[in-house]
Amino acid sequence: MRETRFPLFISLTLMGLFTTACTSPQRDAAITVTAPDGRTTVTFELADGVPSYRVERDGAPLIAAARLGVVLADGASFDTNLVLIRKRTGTVDDSWIQPWGEVAEVRDHHNELLVEVQRSEAPRRRMQIVFRVFDDGVGFRYAWPEQSELGDFAISDELTEFAVASPYDAWWIPAYGENRYEYLYTRSPVGSLDTVHTPLTLEPLPSSRDAGGVALPYLSIHESDLTDYASMTLMRVRAPQGSGTTLKADLVPWSDGIKVRATAPHVSPWRTIQIADTPADLAESTLILNLAEPNQLGDVSWVKPGKYVGIWWGMHIGKNTWESGAKHGATTANAKRYIDFAASNGFAGVLVEGWNIGWDGNWLENGSLFRFTEPYPDFDLEEVQRYALERGVSLIGHHETSADVLNYEAQIEDAFALYQRLGLKAVKTGYVGFGQNIDRGEGQLEWHHGQYMVRHYRKVIETAARYGIMLDVHEPIKDTGVRRTFPNMMTREGARGQEYNSGAGVPNPLEHVPVLAFTRMLSGPFDYTPGVFALRYPEYRPNHRMPSTLARQLALYVVLYSPLHMAADLVENYEAHERESSGARSAFQFIRDVPVDWEYTSVPDAAIGDYAVFVRKDRSSADWYLGAVTDEQARSVDVTLDFLPSGQSFVAEIYGDGAGADWETNPYAMDIRDEVVTSASTLTLPMGRGGGYAIRFRAAGE
Ligand code: NOJ
Repeated sequence: MRETRFPLFISLTLMGLFTTACTSPQRDAAITVTAPDGRTTVTFELADGVPSYRVERDGAPLIAAARLGVVLADGASFDTNLVLIRKRTGTVDDSWIQPWGEVAEVRDHHNELLVEVQRSEAPRRRMQIVFRVFDDGVGFRYAWPEQSELGDFAISDELTEFAVASPYDAWWIPAYGENRYEYLYTRSPVGSLDTVHTPLTLEPLPSSRDAGGVALPYLSIHESDLTDYASMTLMRVRAPQGSGTTLKADLVPWSDGIKVRATAPHVSPWRTIQIADTPADLAESTLILNLAEPNQLGDVSWVKPGKYVGIWWGMHIGKNTWESGAKHGATTANAKRYIDFAASNGFAGVLVEGWNIGWDGNWLENGSLFRFTEPYPDFDLEEVQRYALERGVSLIGHHETSADVLNYEAQIEDAFALYQRLGLKAVKTGYVGFGQNIDRGEGQLEWHHGQYMVRHYRKVIETAARYGIMLDVHEPIKDTGVRRTFPNMMTREGARGQEYNSGAGVPNPLEHVPVLAFTRMLSGPFDYTPGVFALRYPEYRPNHRMPSTLARQLALYVVLYSPLHMAADLVENYEAHERESSGARSAFQFIRDVPVDWEYTSVPDAAIGDYAVFVRKDRSSADWYLGAVTDEQARSVDVTLDFLPSGQSFVAEIYGDGAGADWETNPYAMDIRDEVVTSASTLTLPMGRGGGYAIRFRAAGE
């Protein structure tokens, strides 16, 4: 079923529902709910009025007894002295179609338990806790129903814990850093963490086995449906001796210390624990999407995935500037050059950054100067967009706010109305700003990830939707499945992207991509901006080399999903590459061909931080694509092509690292050739250091 508009909790109509009102309120109870495949069990427990839960997999503990509850600022909290007054169980087995994504059809098969608790003292407030247990993990959320005892309320702490029961390593980035989510991932034992962002991926130690000697699963802790609430970071609860593997929800606070302001009825986001036997299963999990609210926009046929080029990399490597002057990138003539290139090569969009008044001087500090409807004099917005539309292309708008949210909100209707009038269909927003620096008036400074900004980011999505505009958000709030609810929320940044490899600062290490694929990417699409072909540019960055081979740049289109994917390089570099290929199939052909909307995704082989092989089936043809990347180690990976339909021959159009390819010494060596294969074939992919492979499989004879 293609998703249209559904009210909240519609899925309950599909359930076999069993509701039990407790005959007398209980201070002690233990109720279990099990995944459809029977492997994962969640137990909700109320022990002398204190709520907790635990999770077992195949009978072995994954999450030991861990606290639940919230503390309210007025002191009448949901933490202790609770009684169980009602419980309800049910089952859903349904499937739904994504308008775009890594996979077209998503099966939602889960068992649910709802418990309702009440304070045993006045005010006798009520709260529900809803658990949903899927084969690929667990979600639970708090709900505060409408009631006379609870109107406006303020949460001063959420007590939710994740008591990791066995030795695990975590792949983490720090929370509350100046640079938002843009940090390198570290792998270290859970017992060494401080406060970290989610998704937090947990890898079992090679020696970690359950009591039966079975390897422990991979886990990832995150959240789904972050709506009008603070985002959750995880803080380790230190045992007296400094160790301890219990992580506690640490909600990003408002400037006055309150975590969440709400009015009943209200719900928290789902707290999620993805559970997977392999990293591949983790990457294929649909838990976050299944828990997110269905599409609220109705007909989204105007939302269209696509590829784009742009006046962008030039600023990052120092060739151009955002600000006006001799090196200004966003000129009418330059934009037309990019539009011509886009039109001749099948790109839907052209991003132009630095087009509007406000970039002169220190734009990082002067967000209030940005004008979102006033182009620089050397950029004729109307003429450029007219020129683009005439060629079947459109500009992608750009709103850099420098995190001056008040300035942006004051102009937002006019800004989107202008783009709508001109026929622009997508806008990239940006919130460059560091630490707790977002001024919401009267000197109150907020974080990017607290409730104030969660509300702002949502307001922009809803405003954009009203104007028929898709979004690509940089310096965003992390994705929590909100792309399901608002399919115009296409892609976002929220990690160190390719721009860190420009040579302006410390580049991403080569393990970064095979880490991202199993951490950041679990939250949703990433506008990573792949496709840089000129891997050295000594005239702008002497001594710098992109940490990548050329083949790896192609692989990124498949490994890192985005419904809006950029070909990031300067068009003159693509043109030079095409000339040098003198008629033979060039590496650029892969970028022309690769889709951005998929029917299936699977991960034949991977080790987090070492290498990753992704395969995806095109949603609008019978083609399959493969992307593989390695870290700083050269390695050869054998891939059995059993994902292809059997009994059919395919031409594998291979774009791999050539003999001796190496990001540092020989990045351009490529092996471009065709091979006829079937689902019984195995391909060997020899990747150089920092290398990769990209393959298109098309039916033989087409
Ligand atoms: C940071 C964004 O990530 C980048 O893509 C953009 O070019 C700059 N901000 C300027 O908006």
